[in-house]
Amino acid sequence: MKTRSISTLTFLLFVILSWSRAASADGHEDFLECLSHQFSNHNNSISNVVYTPKNSSYSSILAFSIQNLRFTSDSTSKPLVIITPEHETQIPPVIRCAKATDMQIRTRSGGHDYEGLSYVSEVPYVILDLINFSEITIEAKEKSAWVESGATIGSLYYRIAEKSPILGFPAGICPTVGVGGHFSGGGYGNLLRKYGLAADNVIDARIIDVNGRILNRKSMGEDLFWAVRGGGGASFGVILAWKVQLVDVPYTVTVFRIQRTLEQNATQLVHRWQYVAHKFDQDLFISITLTRASSGQDGRNMTIVASFTSIFLGEVDGLLSLMQESFPELGLVREDCTEMSWIQSILYFAGFPIESREVLLNRTQPIVRYFKAKSDYVQKPIPEYGLEGIWRLFYEAEAEEAVIILSPYGGRMGEISESALPFPHRANNLYKIQHLVYWEENEAQNSNRYINWIRRLYSYMAPYVSMSPRAAYINYRDLDIGVNNNEGKISYARASIWGIKYFKNNFNRLIRVKTMVDPENFFRNEQSIPSLH
Ligand SMILES: Cc1cc2nc3c(=O)[nH]c(=O)nc-3n(C[C@H](O)[C@H](O)[C@H](O)COP(=O)(O)OP(=O)(O)OC[C@H]3O[C@@H](n4cnc5c(N)ncnc54)[C@H](O)[C@@H]3O)c2cc1C
Ligand SMILES: *[C@@H]1O[C@H](CO)[C@@H](O)[C@H](O)[C@H]1NC(C)=O
Ligand SMILES: *[C@@H]1O[C@H](CO)[C@@H](O)[C@H](O)[C@H]1NC(C)=O
Ligand SMILES: *[C@@H]1O[C@H](CO)[C@@H](O)[C@H](O)[C@H]1NC(C)=O
Ligand SMILES: *[C@@H]1O[C@H](CO)[C@@H](O)[C@H](O)[C@H]1NC(C)=O
Ligand SMILES: *[C@@H]1O[C@H](CO)[C@@H](O)[C@H](O)[C@H]1NC(C)=O
Ligand SMILES: *[C@@H]1O[C@H](CO)[C@@H](O)[C@H](O)[C@H]1NC(C)=O
Repeated sequence: MKTRSISTLTFLLFVILSWSRAASADGHEDFLECLSHQFSNHNNSISNVVYTPKNSSYSSILAFSIQNLRFTSDSTSKPLVIITPEHETQIPPVIRCAKATDMQIRTRSGGHDYEGLSYVSEVPYVILDLINFSEITIEAKEKSAWVESGATIGSLYYRIAEKSPILGFPAGICPTVGVGGHFSGGGYGNLLRKYGLAADNVIDARIIDVNGRILNRKSMGEDLFWAVRGGGGASFGVILAWKVQLVDVPYTVTVFRIQRTLEQNATQLVHRWQYVAHKFDQDLFISITLTRASSGQDGRNMTIVASFTSIFLGEVDGLLSLMQESFPELGLVREDCTEMSWIQSILYFAGFPIESREVLLNRTQPIVRYFKAKSDYVQKPIPEYGLEGIWRLFYEAEAEEAVIILSPYGGRMGEISESALPFPHRANNLYKIQHLVYWEENEAQNSNRYINWIRRLYSYMAPYVSMSPRAAYINYRDLDIGVNNNEGKISYARASIWGIKYFKNNFNRLIRVKTMVDPENFFRNEQSIPSLH
């Protein structure tokens, strides 16, 4: 990685001291004063990366990476300070001062956390925002890349395609997702059946620990390196960058999206898909998105639309013969299919025109919405009457903009052992469900209606999904499944309620690693791994 130039600032001490005095009414002066001391004997300025509520751009910096409008209200708690480091040496002093002054640190990369944990806390806190930590270095010959945490997956895909049309990386679908949170929670997308999770393809990492030490794979050791690949980065330190193994993709891939309503046998097709999707050839991935739509001539009736969305790592002829063999019921024909390059398929699935890739470098989502989400794993097919009960919930008023996404497992996911990484959801799963409900600005006062709807859906699903534990995906963060006590020593019993759902038996190893690297539980949040110190 290139190192950034370190700027010098002669009047740094004066600036920070005068400004921390000005801010003293806000109660964060201790932290700022500590920072000014930390930096007084450095040539490395930080005043241009420290924002307090007094700085005019504080609000826009805070809002920039908020990806769920649920956490933009005036009543949402706000950080006392936001720091946007430009060099890694600026981070250890932030950790030291937060420890010394009893401030929590929330590290934010892309800000997509479903419950806003990277920028909201109920106790006094600072945000370490890695937005300017986004360098990507591709080594096409070696088929590897170093990616800094604040980079987005869209920019990673863009930089890979810049170097080679036949290299790719198996991570998520929405280009604005940050690699800091995404890889540390697992990270999956349409290449999952062929290549597993993003975390399965991480080969090195750089992290700053609670003592401010900068570690790589060798110096952190295999336990910590294991933990940050799926255990959530926030419990263990500040991840600076990942080294990843790039994967082979063909020059031509084939995509399709086929929609079927209930009148077009959607129920039977979804039912059938459950028996075949996890057994397809690894080159074939077909997910289903379920939504409600109006139907009938006057549009007053409702129906369900199942969208079968697919990528095949090969040309259309190969896809048609596989589909004829494994899922003829869908009735796929050549006209439904489009051949394109892998990078174009990234644009296609993200909903952009496939001609212009530059949009992958844009960190702003076209639409940011109010939403609440949950996840489930399915291990035996849901009977048709079970699906019909879901349709009934979709007909309720709150579900107008609800979405359920079914993502098939099998393939590579079935080959990796449950304990290889903290992410335990491997063999035995037919598919994963993501439940989502969205609502509009004018309903912001009524969020609870929508949240209650998704909770009803979640209760309804209980008999059909994984049990003991009812497994969940940490990257689809859901505080309903349990939270830590926010004061005092974190209770093991209380943490296991959510911990076992995300990590199954790997939770205990995560606790051992946490106890070793952060015995005092400094890096802590509503769902951080507890230390048993
Ligand atoms: C629109 C949208 C689409 C999504 N699509 C997918 C998808 O296709 N596949 C999928 O698997 N997931 C998807 N997700 C979920 C996504 O993977 C997680 O929300 C992920 O944690 C986001 O990472 P981030 O860096 O953007 O988030 P952040 O909110 O910045 O971070 C998430 C968590 O990780 C911690 N963290 C972040 N950076 C660091 C760091 N450098 N060091 C230590 N801890 C850190 C934060 O403190 C927080 O606890 C999607 C989310 C959204 C909102
Ligand atoms: C600061 O810069 C001066 C001159 O450029 C150099 O001599 C000194 O070693 C530097 N100090 C630190 C702490 O880097
Ligand atoms: C925030 O305001 C202080 C005091 O005016 C200033 O010193 C500092 O440089 C500002 N921060 C940024 C990032 O501009
Ligand atoms: C840091 O990020 C902000 C927001 O994207 C940007 O305005 C600023 O120019 C960046 N600073 C550097 C040094 O890249
Ligand atoms: C739906 O399924 C039935 C029975 O399997 C079949 O007869 C009918 O043609 C199908 N309808 C459509 C629109 O595919
Ligand atoms: C609406 O649905 C009802 C019941 O399924 C049906 O009887 C009616 O014909 C439908 N109306 C339209 C306009 O499609
Ligand atoms: C980035 O995307 C947002 C949302 O679509 C758009 O408003 C903005 O103009 C884009 N920025 C650039 C530089 O294209």
